[in-house]
Amino acid sequence: MSDSPLAGKQIVVGVSGSIAAYKSADLIRRLRDEGVEVRVVMTQGATEFITPLTLQSLSGHPVAIELLDADQESAMGHIALARWADWILIAPASADTIARLVQGRADDLLMALCLASEAPIAVAPAMNNKMWSNPATQDNLNQLRQRGVQLIGPGSGDQACGEQGEGRLLEPLDIVAAMKQLAVPGLLQGRHVLITAGPTYEPIDPVRFIGNRSSGKMGFAMAQAAQQAGAEVTLIAGPVALSTPSGVRRVDVETAEQMREAVLRSVAGKAIFISCAAVSDFRPLSSESEKIKKATHDTLMLELAPTVDIVSEVATGDNRPDFVVGFAAETRHVADYARDKLKRKKLDMIAANEVGEGKGFAADDNALQVIWADGSQTLPLAPKPQLARDLMTLIIRQFDAKNSTENS
Ligand code: C5P
Repeated sequence: MSDSPLAGKQIVVGVSGSIAAYKSADLIRRLRDEGVEVRVVMTQGATEFITPLTLQSLSGHPVAIELLDADQESAMGHIALARWADWILIAPASADTIARLVQGRADDLLMALCLASEAPIAVAPAMNNKMWSNPATQDNLNQLRQRGVQLIGPGSGDQACGEQGEGRLLEPLDIVAAMKQLAVPGLLQGRHVLITAGPTYEPIDPVRFIGNRSSGKMGFAMAQAAQQAGAEVTLIAGPVALSTPSGVRRVDVETAEQMREAVLRSVAGKAIFISCAAVSDFRPLSSESEKIKKATHDTLMLELAPTVDIVSEVATGDNRPDFVVGFAAETRHVADYARDKLKRKKLDMIAANEVGEGKGFAADDNALQVIWADGSQTLPLAPKPQLARDLMTLIIRQFDAKNSTENS
């Protein structure tokens, strides 16, 4: 028996008409690897892209398509399926399926099932990027969000139509990781989590700064994962071009000192602090109030002063959260340096990655070595949202272990 949090869950996978329907075959296999019981419902459109027989073989059960089919209804009809499901996962969800879900239509089996079921619904959209960004689709998605439907993805990148952009179905493993967080809700219910993300900019003059290549993607993904695990999340963000994950409180800062002040202001009462930000280690000792003119300098010396190490200050301070997680970005000797930092900064856990040559900072995928006092685990290369959910699962596990030893 799998020890996955999904083991034993009963999930109806709804497959709608999209070129991404072929990925639902792998998704079903991956869900079953986690010990999930899967029943598949296809729309007529989906059958144009992938055969019911394929999904029947992978799920181990007949695939339901027709609403008005006496044979199917006598096996497991829409009402029986609606009662059976712990979750309904529509993947891929086409723009049309999303629109019909908003309207509450019951003109095919999948829609009738969604209408008749009290099970939570998760939707993994897949469509052309223009269809995705169309206000009609965005309005529909907002309505679904307000009704508590969970959105998984979409991702962005190359599309089947030859275009580039948002709207791609997430990879099956990414959808499974999202379902893990969703299907075990409230692991962090009632807990407050503080997260820093992105780079800091240390001004040299009004137009120049010392910064770094951090995109903030991992920190934002961590904020989303913590929020999905039921936590109240405060995200302190350096300068990044990312939208705030839904349900997350965001504070924007620019310099290391501003980040430190924002952290110290909000750290009291937090259960977990995750220091994802690539905080500048040095700042110019003084910043010029006017733009430095090229013509007045042959060479230019910048005198730098160290910044305060925020995560160390939090980990050794009076308001220390129960669990403090740091990150370590290294170009070599990743695990050794990370272990040293874990001890020196008095952290509970450190997530280390190799950066440079396209790895780490600005990339969409990453891999991590996660180390704590008496254990470690490698999280293999994966899109950052998936990696964040897996890291969150590890954090929750170790946080619970620490709490139960302290309370015993
Ligand atoms: O020592 P190093 O900068 O590699 O440590 C990285 C870890 O320390 C990250 O978790 C980062 O957020 C944190 N850090 C910090 N304040 C600093 C520098 C790093 O919180 N001034």
